[in-house]
Amino acid sequence: MDHFSLRDGVLHAEDVPLPRIAQDVGTPVYVYSRATLERHARVFTEGLAGVPDKLIAFAVKANPNLAVLKVLQQAGFGADVVSGGELRRALLAGMGPEKIVFSGVGKTRAELQLGLDEGIGQFNIESREEGRELAELAAARGEQAPVCLRINPDVDARTHEKISTGKAENKFGIPLVHAREVYAELAALEGLNLRGVAVHIGSQLGDLEPLETAFGKVGQLVADLRAAGHAITHVDLGGGLGVPYKTGEVLPSPAEYGAMVARVTQDWDVHLTFEPGRVIAGNAGVLLTRVIRVKRGGNGPPFVIVDAAMNDLARPALYGAWHDFEAVTPNGERMTANIVGPICETGDTFAQDRECDALVSGDLAIFRTAGAYGATMASSYNSRGFVAEVLVDGDKFAVVAERLTADAIMSAEPVPDWL
Ligand code: LLP
Repeated sequence: MDHFSLRDGVLHAEDVPLPRIAQDVGTPVYVYSRATLERHARVFTEGLAGVPDKLIAFAVKANPNLAVLKVLQQAGFGADVVSGGELRRALLAGMGPEKIVFSGVGKTRAELQLGLDEGIGQFNIESREEGRELAELAAARGEQAPVCLRINPDVDARTHEKISTGKAENKFGIPLVHAREVYAELAALEGLNLRGVAVHIGSQLGDLEPLETAFGKVGQLVADLRAAGHAITHVDLGGGLGVPYKTGEVLPSPAEYGAMVARVTQDWDVHLTFEPGRVIAGNAGVLLTRVIRVKRGGNGPPFVIVDAAMNDLARPALYGAWHDFEAVTPNGERMTANIVGPICETGDTFAQDRECDALVSGDLAIFRTAGAYGATMASSYNSRGFVAEVLVDGDKFAVVAERLTADAIMSAEPVPDWL
């Protein structure tokens, strides 16, 4: 459930009519709803009521906006980060270092060092090499880094291949067959407090079964590692729960996910970490855009050319992803159209042959479910600048990311005086 709905024929974000935001801030602009973020955080937390000892660490990559992180920090969440930049964002948003988990296959030495400097709660190590490097850095400081070993369970998450992470051929984690041997080697290193394992098999999962299969393999590994004398106190189950992108689509709920987790992990006797991203932020944001013009006369349906483009919302171009598209003031008429942006490549297509509200030049419209992997994946391609972001709270709203104009970007591009 979200807080973007029609009132008196006008789409609102909570109590704010979207045309007001378009007028004040311009378009395209991402609009987030605080009430929706809080609701999703609460529903996810309640879904895990059967798991007593846990940390919910929001996957910052899904939406790193500082105001969004602050809302989630206040909801009790920690952060799952994958770079020094995300780590600094989480800290800046007030997340305690002990609630920060550092994931990722390519943490640099400087990033490992930063994690140690800040005293973060957990490093998820993805290779023997990374483990050795972290151990060396921590030992040199007379410390032990808190670590889980990420394993690759070789499970097909049945999601888009570009966001699948738990198959043997993916770059992530230690193959299960080597896990015991690598665990034993790293556990013996003085600089590591190796205390468990981590897993994450992919994103936008529409089915709990692959997750349950992966968690089952983790449970077996935990038993094996204990039998080999290791004290396993922590397991990180990653993120991945999908969200509905199309009206009417039904996905496993956080309650169903939580019940499955509670059942599978009931005998594990560990502290569990969760790294949800999309399920918290996805439906808490829309991309508000204005129709530049409607171009007719081609072979197919008309082109509705909007002022948002693939640089602002990359998911359709990258993954062929669907985002519901709706008029802000629908008049009841419908049309079939190709929804495109102004960028000079055919990939800048949001939807083809889409049945949608009838729109004309100047109308406002939204792409839904844009709160996760939206603004964060924006670029300035075609020198369009970086899109602005707004957070709504009841009847008030604030710009939480200024529009970065082409001029601002150019001002960071010195041209050498020898040219
Ligand atoms: N933990 C780890 C280690 C991850 O790699 C990810 C996502 C998450 C947690 C959060 O997953 P979520 O709960 O959001 O599914 N740009 C793509 C999604 C990439 C996801 C990468 N990893 C998209 O727009 O669909």
